[in-house]
Amino acid sequence: MTTETVDLGPVPAQWTRRHLLGLEELSAEEITVILDKAEVFRKALEDGVRRIPLLRGKTCANLFFENSTRTRSSFSLAARRLGADTLDFSPSGSSLSKGETFIDTAKNIEAMGVDLVVIRHRTPGSPRLLAANLDCGVFIPADDGIRHPTQGLLDIMTIRQRRGSVKGLTVAMVGDIAHSRTARSNIWGLKKLGAHVIVCGPSTLVSPRWAEIGVEYSYSLDDIIPRVDVLNLLRIQFERQYSRPFPSVREYAHLYAMNRDRLKRAKGDILILAPGPINRGVEITPDVADGKQSAILDQVSNGVAVRMAVLWLIASRCGK
Ligand code: CP
Repeated sequence: MTTETVDLGPVPAQWTRRHLLGLEELSAEEITVILDKAEVFRKALEDGVRRIPLLRGKTCANLFFENSTRTRSSFSLAARRLGADTLDFSPSGSSLSKGETFIDTAKNIEAMGVDLVVIRHRTPGSPRLLAANLDCGVFIPADDGIRHPTQGLLDIMTIRQRRGSVKGLTVAMVGDIAHSRTARSNIWGLKKLGAHVIVCGPSTLVSPRWAEIGVEYSYSLDDIIPRVDVLNLLRIQFERQYSRPFPSVREYAHLYAMNRDRLKRAKGDILILAPGPINRGVEITPDVADGKQSAILDQVSNGVAVRMAVLWLIASRCGK
């Protein structure tokens, strides 16, 4: 199937960006442009379209300095579905082990002829550092330690699909708010589109300072559960913690896991999301993860469509 059969329309005039560095800098209109185009890509993929060669002749480098299943695979697939060549880099087995720096590594990859760079690195600001040092000039953070913009977009897309609109919904992010890139991106995107956002978890992982930007905070999932429309369950990121933020995983699960009992006290149409990877039995029980309220795998499918939309919109303004 060719591009003629996919009715994307032109790139909207509201879209002028060459980079997507974070949802905090996007307007509600720009977020809506991405989501609307992602819907077109999602429909085409559902209809069996496997090549929409809008980026034919371009090369997309995926520089993943941290592990990934969903983000890396879906960026790669999105680029290939758009007809681009892809170059996947990971530090394991690379010459970083011989002392080559982050910038030199990126410059060498750029010298191979790259048009778009997707980067995951745990250091906040690493995409901006590359932008200042490379010429290819197009950077999309898969996440940079504090942001995960395409995860935020695909979560919001899933909510919009299931509920028609985000405006007026109460969306709770539960779990390791302190270390979650997903939480930060969701919070900015959801607030811009008119949702009421609650962050919830142990006091060691949820700062009361979220209230300063109009986000409600709570230390009790049981208190908030009856009024929540969408629950986004975040993994406890033990790998980013220097000390354990609660006495035991068992206690955490007792207080914060979404399970059958809590589901009974929730709204009948509550939507359950999780960015993945999920830890079954910690933040969510298997019956809820696989149950009818869960949209976890739908989020993953939307991830390919959102990344296609982002790559296409960004490439349209990069002028190479
Ligand atoms: N949600 C997410 O970022 O998953 P990965 O770490 O597998 O990419």
